[in-house]
Amino acid sequence: MQMMNAIVKPALGPGLELRQVPVPAPGPGEVLIKVHKTAICGTDVHIYNWDPWAQLHIKQPMTIGHEYVGEIAELGAGVTGLQVGQRVSGEGHITCGHCRNCHTGNIQWCKNTSSVGVDRDGAFAEYVCIPASNVILIDESLPEDVVAFFDAVGNAAHTALMWDLVGEDVLITGAGPIGIIAAGICKYAGARRVIITDVNDYRLELARKMGVDAAVNTAKEDLPTIMKEQKLAEGFDVGLEMSGNGGAFRQMCSVMRNGGKISLLGLGNKPIEVDMNDIICKGLTLQGIYGRKMDNWHQMSYMVQGGLDLTPVITHRFHYTQFVEGFAAMNSGKSGKVVLDWTK
Ligand SMILES: NC(=O)c1ccc[n+]([C@@H]2O[C@H](COP(=O)([O-])OP(=O)(O)OC[C@H]3O[C@@H](n4cnc5c(N)ncnc54)[C@H](O)[C@@H]3O)[C@@H](O)[C@H]2O)c1
Ligand SMILES: [Zn+2]
Ligand SMILES: [Zn+2]
Repeated sequence: MQMMNAIVKPALGPGLELRQVPVPAPGPGEVLIKVHKTAICGTDVHIYNWDPWAQLHIKQPMTIGHEYVGEIAELGAGVTGLQVGQRVSGEGHITCGHCRNCHTGNIQWCKNTSSVGVDRDGAFAEYVCIPASNVILIDESLPEDVVAFFDAVGNAAHTALMWDLVGEDVLITGAGPIGIIAAGICKYAGARRVIITDVNDYRLELARKMGVDAAVNTAKEDLPTIMKEQKLAEGFDVGLEMSGNGGAFRQMCSVMRNGGKISLLGLGNKPIEVDMNDIICKGLTLQGIYGRKMDNWHQMSYMVQGGLDLTPVITHRFHYTQFVEGFAAMNSGKSGKVVLDWTK
């Protein structure tokens, strides 16, 4: 049996282990991918830290990871239209294809989803195996360091592009990697002002590198004052909630204009309290966002080819054997995206 290195949750409890595990054999309709680069996602940090969410969801031993780019190494029986050697990434949500949402193309709402690196072996390994229908061809012109985290870009794009952005003023609460990527997308898509908030100065500085008009530390600065400086007369047209923090969401509702639109991506770890009167009397529209639309893989590629530079969000690059340093960087709060190299 051929063996490979993989980053595995070995047993109940915090941490991960680099282990030798069998190279998966692609079954009928599956594709084996040789991994080139991976990126660490907040979900992986939950699994690493073994928080209550991870304790409920993760079986062990399991290879984790779902943000990656690589090349096709082998095709399972019956796979057509793909070739060994093609550069690819993979949609991490494996959907049933038969429920009402799958039939209408809204796979992000499939009721039978299972996730790569959460429910089944993932991509923090020399090889990963996924269904052929989840394989995404990646053009050779795209930088692998960026494609490595297209999964997260997809969340950002889906959240941001839910609304018209041309000439609009956008508030993003939460300058984590996804908030920062969303800021770049909003500017690329033609927003007038993009203002981002956080309580972490390191991350606000990264957002400035991504070209935001203002990056506001709401623990120290007054958002309405900055809105005046930025000539926002009536409030924000569009809000993207990307912190999962109740205080940030309440503040967002308070500074939206009447008729404003909000998309909600941030997952909190507890229920939050909101003033419904703010939402009702302003006529706000709220849209929950889960995952990404399948077609936004193409949109992401074209935006990057069209000049959207996402490299400012990459703060750390490590060889995969140094994954502990990678997770330490993520846990420090002083990181954007952390990319792991599997090519050497
Ligand atoms: N719905 C989905 O499908 C989906 C997918 C991926 C991620 N998520 C969620 O989206 C969010 C963003 O992802 P990420 O990886 O960038 O997360 P992250 O945790 O790295 O970033 C969240 C940021 O919010 C900031 N924050 C905390 N309190 C704040 C406040 N009061 N005001 C403003 N900012 C505040 C934090 O300092 C942090 O920088 C997370 O909540 C994540 O769980 C949801
Ligand atoms: Zn992810
Ligand atoms: Zn389905």
